[in-house]
Amino acid sequence: MKTKRIGFATRLGAIAATVGSAVGLGNIWRFPYEAGQNGGGAFIIVYIACVALLGIPVMLSEFIIGRSTHSNMKGALRKLAPKSSIYLMAYVCIAGAVMVLGFYSVVCGWVVEYICQAVAGNLQGHQPQDYSVMFSDFVGSPVRMVLFTVVFLAINFAVLLKGVQKGIERMSSIMMPLLFLLLVVFCVNSLMLPDAHKGLAFLFKPDFGALTWRGVVDAFGQAFMSLSLGVACLVTYASYFNDDTSLTRDAVVIASLDTLVAILAGIVIFPAVFSFGMQPEAGPKLVFEVLPAVFQQMAGGYVWAILFFVLLFFASLTSTISLSEIFITFLIEERNFSRRKAIWITAAVVGSLAVLCALSFNVLKSVTVFGMSIFDLFNYLSSNVFMLLGGLFTALFVGWFLDRRVIVEQLTNRGRLNVPVMNYLMFCLRYVAPVAVVFIFMQLVGII
Ligand code: PHE
Repeated sequence: MKTKRIGFATRLGAIAATVGSAVGLGNIWRFPYEAGQNGGGAFIIVYIACVALLGIPVMLSEFIIGRSTHSNMKGALRKLAPKSSIYLMAYVCIAGAVMVLGFYSVVCGWVVEYICQAVAGNLQGHQPQDYSVMFSDFVGSPVRMVLFTVVFLAINFAVLLKGVQKGIERMSSIMMPLLFLLLVVFCVNSLMLPDAHKGLAFLFKPDFGALTWRGVVDAFGQAFMSLSLGVACLVTYASYFNDDTSLTRDAVVIASLDTLVAILAGIVIFPAVFSFGMQPEAGPKLVFEVLPAVFQQMAGGYVWAILFFVLLFFASLTSTISLSEIFITFLIEERNFSRRKAIWITAAVVGSLAVLCALSFNVLKSVTVFGMSIFDLFNYLSSNVFMLLGGLFTALFVGWFLDRRVIVEQLTNRGRLNVPVMNYLMFCLRYVAPVAVVFIFMQLVGII
């Protein structure tokens, strides 16, 4: 069956939808705690270098593949390299997307729980240290963890079943700028806290001694997670881009906005961490301990807390919708399932993985693989293995195998644009990406 593909009405529509997918928990929850665990400033420098040398080139590769074929990842690879089995790479991307959803929806469940706590007024009137106990109590309860994860997933799949995801995306184009504004307000607030300068020094004064090789790969993985790379998500988005969209400009705008949001989140969190005597290396709970402590010392903290967690909920929902679509589309196109059936199957698969991840904080705490809990394992494997490899192989495919004419045609919009970055792009795709693959592999098997 041939369906008519409708492009984005405006250039802004394309950017807004892609930013909606990219900005989420990766920026606001994951970036600060990864930076905190890996020494702050040095991690951020490696992160930014990775966005420039690998992130933007991989994003452009996904855009080129998507827009030149107007297909999803597997179909696109089949069209671009008909005689090779390179299309199998699409399965790595799809597996990566399902794995991300597994742990990501648990954290989305935390956001739902914190909305409820904020509305009930429970985030107000405590000492900063109390929020740590509050979080431990919450994750220690299997019932609450599973309940909120399931509530989140129910909303996510209800949106998909009712076909209102376009409405959510439209809403998010209002919510995203609001979230951005809120972060700016919180930054100003954090910068005025006592000892704020210690947090800023931690964030911006690099101490390379604090960064391990594992930390470097974490920075790479975090960049790919945050920019939504390596899971074929952006291939699908780009397949709907208009022919006059400048791919290079859009990739730079999207990557810059995404990085800006992550750094703003860091500026909100770390001055507060040092001001309240908390631990920067607290790990995944960091943001959920620090932010309530920040809100409660602000005038109108009750409202700020609700507003923030609601906006974060929408930012996360646009990410999980785009992640879910990857597996749903695969089931429809490859298995010929109806959309309804595909959504239910996706819900069942993701739901089971997410429940396992939720229980790994309590009843399944003692189950570890390579010394990691199930949640940590999913979190680690999805960014540091699946997304990195999916993204870097996409880069190698475009750099070494794709007909150069397709690349030039896509970047210049058939000769209508002047693209001065061609040599830079090809250098990153052909040489930086393979070096990164070897480096990541060496870190993975423990050689460095
Ligand atoms: N980039 C999103 C975030 O930072 C997560 C995501 C990954 C979304 C892959 C879509 C695809 O939260």
